[in-house]
Amino acid sequence: QSFFKPIHNTSPPPTTTRNTKISVVGVGNVGMAIAQTILTQSLADEIALVDVNGDKLRGEMLDLQHAAAFLPRTKISASVDFSSTVGSDLVIVTAGARQIVGESRLNLLQRNVALFSKVVPPLAAASPECILLVVSNPVDVLTYVAWKLSGFPSNRVIGSGTNLDSSRFRFLIADHLDLNAQDVQAYIVGEHGDSSVALWSSISVGGVPILSFLERQQIAYEKQTLEKIHKEVVEGAYEVIKLKGYTSWAIGYSAASLARAILRDQRSIHPVSVLAKGFYGIDGGEPFLSLPAQLGRSGVLGVTNVHLTEDEENQLRESAKTILELQTQLGI
Ligand code: NAI
Ligand code: LAC
Repeated sequence: QSFFKPIHNTSPPPTTTRNTKISVVGVGNVGMAIAQTILTQSLADEIALVDVNGDKLRGEMLDLQHAAAFLPRTKISASVDFSSTVGSDLVIVTAGARQIVGESRLNLLQRNVALFSKVVPPLAAASPECILLVVSNPVDVLTYVAWKLSGFPSNRVIGSGTNLDSSRFRFLIADHLDLNAQDVQAYIVGEHGDSSVALWSSISVGGVPILSFLERQQIAYEKQTLEKIHKEVVEGAYEVIKLKGYTSWAIGYSAASLARAILRDQRSIHPVSVLAKGFYGIDGGEPFLSLPAQLGRSGVLGVTNVHLTEDEENQLRESAKTILELQTQLGI
């Protein structure tokens, strides 16, 4: 006996319901920040949590379910079995070792490649049409590894890349100029890491290119002020890790913004880790690194042709070289 008495002339439920399922693999600091943000922004009808730690999984699932009275109705499941991700539209991979204080992301490579070789094939088998969003570090090389191991077309394998670095960059520029970060269009591209590249020449504030904006406002700036801001971006994660042991909230919002762009087919532009071969003179090998890419329901729709100065192109190629050196060592 249902709780409700059906009204007259009730039509049967639709045979096909559009159900958006996101799986989050790894329920650590990052995975749960992402899951919580997706839930709050009601980006999915179903969130499947996967991890190897069964107690942590169940605890996180129950803790989120207990917030149901304050959130849009979302089915939340948790399992150590990867097949629970079956039929996902988007699979976000955060499983893996994280940096200790002072450790570079690249130092996590061997451990996390070994983990990916166990994790990616079953995820791809359970959701052969899904889009893979890689967050684990070093994210660029691991996105390449996920591409190779999944057998997916490259447009459906994306790394969160410098979407997070660009948010830090926009915050610091906005803070420096007393502006709203959402009015600052600025890209960091290349490696999500120490060799990232600040695209100064294409930064705009309220549609005005920043360098001429600063000149017009007579705001004194020296090249070193701009370089100092980029340095703060590169050092940002190290500082947070030293203070709280890991980073989580900003990557939670960053990954949720990418999930929204993809699942809501926003066709918006984000600096994310993509197969960069053939762009900006990057020709050798198959490096994944961040470029401004248009995202929609089928993943990467294209890479935008942002104007780069010669110096920026050279730095980007250096960043590609760093990533390629690691990729070729993997023999994948
Ligand atoms: P964490 O240690 O809190 O969580 C890692 C989780 O992975 C743990 O719950 C662990 O049980 C799980 N795990 C380990 N092996 C697994 C397997 N085989 N299958 C499924 N789950 C498994 O680490 P945290 O802080 O969540 O960071 C996770 C990763 O995200 C790290 O690699 C970190 O560097 C990276 N990260 C990337 C960012 C980016 O911007 N791309 C930003 C912040 C972190
Ligand atoms: C970051 C590191 C952890 O927060 O990738 O940028």
